[in-house]
Amino acid sequence: MTANAKILGTGGYLPAEIRTNDDISKTVDTSDAWIYERTGIKSRRIAAPEESAASMAEIAAKQAIANAAINASDIDLIIVTTGTPDCVYPSTACIVQERLGIKNCVAFDVQAACSGALFSLSIADQYIKTGAAKNVLLIGSELCSRIVDWTDRGTCILFGDGAGALLLGASEEPGVLSTHIHSDGAYCDLLYCPNPQVEARNDKNGLGFINMRGNEVFKMAVTTLERIVDETLEANNLSKADIHWLVPHQANIRIIAATAKKLKMSLDQVIVTLEEQGNTSSASVLLALHQGISDGRIQRGQNILLEAFGAGFTWGSALIKY
Ligand code: COA
Repeated sequence: MTANAKILGTGGYLPAEIRTNDDISKTVDTSDAWIYERTGIKSRRIAAPEESAASMAEIAAKQAIANAAINASDIDLIIVTTGTPDCVYPSTACIVQERLGIKNCVAFDVQAACSGALFSLSIADQYIKTGAAKNVLLIGSELCSRIVDWTDRGTCILFGDGAGALLLGASEEPGVLSTHIHSDGAYCDLLYCPNPQVEARNDKNGLGFINMRGNEVFKMAVTTLERIVDETLEANNLSKADIHWLVPHQANIRIIAATAKKLKMSLDQVIVTLEEQGNTSSASVLLALHQGISDGRIQRGQNILLEAFGAGFTWGSALIKY
């Protein structure tokens, strides 16, 4: 019998430093009112110098393991998704594996920018369905503050740091109902972050910062996410009314509101964290899922639609019965 990937537990970590819109307004020409109105963001968390993708991932992972009430040694696969890995290699997943003291499991990283959580979830689901793994730990951990140009008001207002974790286990009960992932490399120029050591593409100052044509990304995100909502509902033969919660990537409240409207959902049925977290890239969906589950809004048996859009472009969704 094919197993289902069931959510066993979630975890999250946010660094202590809070950087408000007013703080940013002191260094670039912007304002709290502009940022809040155009994005829905009020503040974001900034990691301390000694923190890294692996150190934040470790904390989120330990919380997910504790909430799942399993032994770390029962995890067969660790997937970390990050755009800010500690090292080019080894993978951040291997560093986390060592920090968690887990022997004899497989660990690897996945890179799909802000869609990384959905790509990782899709992979985890296949491993569990085929019986190749029983318990999969999935972590998104991002230090966006280290790859943001703090003099560029078009990007520095958007991003934040944090880590989210999800433990999936094989179950006979329904769990992940479907996953849908897509890529289109034709849009690499609209949103990219060069690797300064490789220098395969020109960066304005060679430091490896996020470059983005925000308005074009915005329009593509809205239309693409509307399409993937239809694709997800059709694949499951469900209607909009069957979805209890939308757990979206947290890029911009106007993008989130457009997807909710498409689903005929009020924002009360959407887990929104970006006001206080900003866009934490691949961590954002996992942090939002953790928030909705830990504060009791998302209940067992409910249907959750997860979605994300990111550089590449990449985009993905998942329908999960919690
Ligand atoms: N403060 C004040 N003004 C700003 C500003 C800021 N932080 N950033 C841009 N502006 C200005 C621009 O310079 C421009 O001025 P101009 O009309 O005099 O040229 C004006 O605001 C409009 O710029 P535009 O880029 O069209 O604004 P926008 O409404 O698209 O909002 C973003 C900008 C970045 C907030 C928005 O495009 C966005 O959120 N895009 C998607 C980003 C995203 O999701 N990225 C990650 C995908 S995973």
